[in-house]
Amino acid sequence: MADYYAVIGNPVGHSKSPWIHAEFARQTGQDMRYEAILAPMDAFAATVEIFRRRGGKGLNVTVPFKLEACHISSRLTDRADAAQAVNTLLFSADGISGDNTDGAGLIRDIMTNLEFPLKAKHILLMGAGGAARGVVLPLLENEPRVLVIANRTKQKAHELQQQFFRYGNIISGDYEDIRGEKFDLVINATSASLYGKLPSLPPRLFAVGSMAYDIMYGVRHTPFLQFAVQQGAAHLADGLGMLVEQAAESFFLWRGVRPKTEPVIEKLRNL
Ligand code: ATR
Repeated sequence: MADYYAVIGNPVGHSKSPWIHAEFARQTGQDMRYEAILAPMDAFAATVEIFRRRGGKGLNVTVPFKLEACHISSRLTDRADAAQAVNTLLFSADGISGDNTDGAGLIRDIMTNLEFPLKAKHILLMGAGGAARGVVLPLLENEPRVLVIANRTKQKAHELQQQFFRYGNIISGDYEDIRGEKFDLVINATSASLYGKLPSLPPRLFAVGSMAYDIMYGVRHTPFLQFAVQQGAAHLADGLGMLVEQAAESFFLWRGVRPKTEPVIEKLRNL
């Protein structure tokens, strides 16, 4: 029988992961099955256990269970521990390993697909929730000149700064604190785009040649990307590349094979 994987979440019906992993499996000739599992809000751990008993080899975890997935893991990778969020579970005889491939997916999309180097850049990260926490360490590992974390609730940005300051140059504040500054890369890791909203950003944030990246995918022109166009950002990206790249990283962890992502991103964009 083919090895069995799934994405687990609530809701999960909209997930593109089954489609993406089917593409990867076809491309690399891997014999595997990948489904979507809806876990009841109060029964994540029990649903994972049933999956595991049925011989499931690994799971992708999505909203709202990434923190709970940390708690059921017997081992966490450093990047999952830093993010306090797990999006990939790997089952083996000696327990459950929890990893987080979101940050690596973002970095690969920005640096490899979009060919935008991060070293010595002035980067603004908007947001200080789970999505932002997952990308701070991978961004710092690429040695930006400074990473500014700005959030509507300043205290939460400050807490992230405190957690990560030893890994690189981080400044925290709210959106008023960044007035007058210019950035090479602005990443929207708030959930505002989900509600068609835009955080109250000051004008003239974008330096010459800069990139605006919204980690939200599926909406071509989020309010943030529209703002970025008006404000003269040179490059725009939504999170579709990150979505495919984090999936590829999970696939690699499970199967030991790295699929080609470019054709999958292209195909997904044109669906
Ligand atoms: P996620 O796991 O998707 O990051 P979260 O942990 O609930 O979700 O965090 C949501 C983030 O989006 C927070 O940084 C939130 O700002 P606050 O900490 O001030 O709440 C931010 N956010 C959501 N809607 C926003 C809006 N309309 N304007 C500005 N920031 C917003």
